[in-house]
Amino acid sequence: MKIVKTIDEVRRQVKEWRAQGLSVGLVPTMGYLHEGHASLIDASHRDNDRTVVSDFVNPMQFGPTEDLESYPRDIERDAALVEEHGGDIIFNPEPSEMYHEGFSSFVDMNVLTQELCGLSRPVHFRGVCTVVSKLFNIVQPDRAYFGKKDAQQLAVIRHMVDDLNMDIEIIGCPIVREEDGLAKSSRNTYLDAEERKAALVLSQAIDLGINMVRNGETDCTVITDALKKHISAEPRARIDYVKIVDLATMQQITTIDRPALCAIAVYIGKTRLIDNFFTEDV
Ligand code: PAF
Repeated sequence: MKIVKTIDEVRRQVKEWRAQGLSVGLVPTMGYLHEGHASLIDASHRDNDRTVVSDFVNPMQFGPTEDLESYPRDIERDAALVEEHGGDIIFNPEPSEMYHEGFSSFVDMNVLTQELCGLSRPVHFRGVCTVVSKLFNIVQPDRAYFGKKDAQQLAVIRHMVDDLNMDIEIIGCPIVREEDGLAKSSRNTYLDAEERKAALVLSQAIDLGINMVRNGETDCTVITDALKKHISAEPRARIDYVKIVDLATMQQITTIDRPALCAIAVYIGKTRLIDNFFTEDV
């Protein structure tokens, strides 16, 4: 397993693999890897001959008041995890390698991004689409792996790949949780002990929603009101959104009468956490 810093090095390695007829999977990450990322690397290792893990905190997807500077980084720890899970290369470029001086081309989308995280993070998906397009162009993988925790991101990337005729299979992988239910996230490291306990309201709310849907509730307001009530009872929690949207359009719906996504974003102290469930998985 090696860490490469330049686009040329990744391209050279992938070319070599291609010449040997090997398939290539890509796991795009922003590093500070946890078991959620490990499950994506495992899936890629299972499906492909070789796996590239990109490890790049992408400045373009952070708003001016967001946590770009404090986002956790630890490449040595990441390298150990990638090796353990069968990854072959970590691509860990400097921002200047990805965005040279004068960089001025962007990939953006005006559907799917107007709701949920797109509302509170207006520049986020343009940054995600741009960097993921660049990674796809650099690595040219057969398959790329994304977590279902970032459900809107997964939908946006699937749509981009379809719109722009990118010949890459997009694989969505299940949310990985801590033993007590909290969805794994690099941002969980921001939480102090009290906040860590308070953060459980997210997975508890998701469980509540799943049970309501299982028991036949289809009225979105009834479900989201129950989730909001549960979250609001935790003094350290501040709701950004609790919504049920059409899985295909990411537009809010009133009745669950089609495949839908129940998604929540909640601040615990200063840390913004997300969680969700897909009604088709219930
Ligand atoms: O999900 C993430 O970690 C990032 O949004 C991604 C896909 C690696 C792009 O920077």
